[in-house]
Amino acid sequence: MAASGDDRVEYYRYKGISLPSHLATEDMDAIQDFAVRDDDVFIITYPKSGTAWLQRIVSLLHNDGDVSKTELKDLDELVPYFEQKCGDSVPFRELPEAPSPRPIKSHFQFFLAPLQLQQGKGKVIYVARNPKDLAVSYYHFHFLAPRLKTPTSWEQFLQDFVNGEVYYGAWHQHVLGWWQQRDNPNVLFLRYEDLHKNTKKQVEKVAEFLQWPVTPEVVEKVVELSKFQKMATDPTTNKVEGKQGKAGVFDSSKGTFFRKGIVGDWKSHFSDEQGQWFDTFYHDKLEPTGLQFEFE
Ligand code: A3P
Repeated sequence: MAASGDDRVEYYRYKGISLPSHLATEDMDAIQDFAVRDDDVFIITYPKSGTAWLQRIVSLLHNDGDVSKTELKDLDELVPYFEQKCGDSVPFRELPEAPSPRPIKSHFQFFLAPLQLQQGKGKVIYVARNPKDLAVSYYHFHFLAPRLKTPTSWEQFLQDFVNGEVYYGAWHQHVLGWWQQRDNPNVLFLRYEDLHKNTKKQVEKVAEFLQWPVTPEVVEKVVELSKFQKMATDPTTNKVEGKQGKAGVFDSSKGTFFRKGIVGDWKSHFSDEQGQWFDTFYHDKLEPTGLQFEFE
């Protein structure tokens, strides 16, 4: 792994993708053979794209917007992180015992996902975020999460990000792998920026895609309870102060998981030169594919 500060943190390479060693790296082949159910709901993202936001929306929809049914459970209990080790356990090993429908979170690129999912079994909600805000969010996240290497500088992190020398590999490969699946009826492709613009519309889209009947009142509750401020102050969704924080996954002295939650924060980090270089690189990657983002 290129040019990051802390050499005690190890990364693992699987099929050309860098993965942090706190994932179930020894189980990667077995993960591809995971038995998917038709009503599984995989929330799949590149890290920092709004995963927790979708975990909250899906878990509330699953419980009719009734927060008391989700109370005392952390987001990663309600929507387990498929490939991450939690002590001795890994959700992908325990999920075969879980009742349907199973909401599941994963950060896998398309080609690393369970083969049955790639073949169209189960449902995937993919969330994409504009790469400038995402890079900023990811940069700060590396300080917060002691299991990830601390970046030596913003400039170096940006180079590593563009080169795919970060955890879960190159953003454009990730997003384009799933973008190619957007017409698959089992895939719903969402954008973080659209969630901002009209959360209600996106919540309705999710419910319709999952074929979970909802009333307008439930949609209203889900929108309200998944607001940034609500999630930032709720111990079950605030990952730093919740159980995961206590388990040492995050270092609260270094920041907060609910950092800003806005569109356009890139402007406070990118120099003009960095912005032009970054835009040119991603324009070349995205333009031929028709995938577009809003940046402010
Ligand atoms: P910032 O670091 O820009 O604030 P993920 O869950 O994929 O790790 O993404 C985390 C990012 O999504 C963080 O971005 C976080 O603040 C933002 N986020 C989480 N919940 C949100 C919400 N309800 N509304 C807006 N942004 C949210």
